[in-house]
Amino acid sequence: MKRKFTIGLCFHYSYHLRILLITFFSTTYCRVLFRLKGIALGKRSRFIGVPITYVYPGSKIVLGDNLEIRTAAISNFIGLNRRSIIATHDDTAQIILGDHCGLSGVVIGAKQSIIIGNQVMIGANVLITDFDWHALNPSERSEGVSSQSKPVNIEDNVFIGYSSTILKGVHIGKNVVIGANSVVTKDIPANSIAVGNPCKVISKVLQC
Ligand SMILES: CC(C)(COP(=O)(O)OP(=O)(O)OC[C@H]1O[C@@H](n2cnc3c(N)ncnc32)[C@H](O)[C@@H]1OP(=O)(O)O)[C@@H](O)C(=O)NCCC(=O)NCCS
Repeated sequence: MKRKFTIGLCFHYSYHLRILLITFFSTTYCRVLFRLKGIALGKRSRFIGVPITYVYPGSKIVLGDNLEIRTAAISNFIGLNRRSIIATHDDTAQIILGDHCGLSGVVIGAKQSIIIGNQVMIGANVLITDFDWHALNPSERSEGVSSQSKPVNIEDNVFIGYSSTILKGVHIGKNVVIGANSVVTKDIPANSIAVGNPCKVISKVLQC
């Protein structure tokens, strides 16, 4: 029994050592890379694996303090399907991410504006986008005409569940919880729990 426990402990420490090393090298690399790319990055943010970032010339990406951005598959036991991606898709686009946010395999794609507040927990494999990526009209789509975009705003203390999708024009109020696998197409008022596809409010968040 004691032997089993000791072996378990070795695996436990080797896992954490691996995470520490990945974090050290990824964070150092991201700091240099982001400076070169013109991405503003606050203090004390940690990267576990290197996210994909793309800054459309002229656009703006501002990342806050104390972020934890996970990209390496082993960084989260909930299971990341992909790398985190933060990308702007037009010269006037902006992505602003507040302080103390956590992202795991999250894709944020902005053609206009995505603003995320402080203390926002964004669950694994979530997509947040402010445009449709392809025009809805078939002839415009085949001609490569750009799709419509509407700003997305996510306020402080929001928790977005695993694999959810936040679509264009959505405003999510403070303290909201979005259930796993939800598709958010309309505004969600502050202090509510909302779930499903399309995402609807089911209850209020209990305040301590
Ligand atoms: C949204 C959530 C917080 C609700 O938890 P809860 O308050 O304990 O709610 P309950 O489990 O009592 O469910 C309430 C109702 O919502 C439904 N529901 C809960 N989560 C749902 C979801 N993700 N999608 C659709 N319906 C959901 C339940 O079926 C239930 O329906 P009913 O009243 O008709 O029986 C939770 O279900 C959830 O999705 N958590 C996210 C976990 C997660 O993704 N973590 C991220 C890790 S990266």
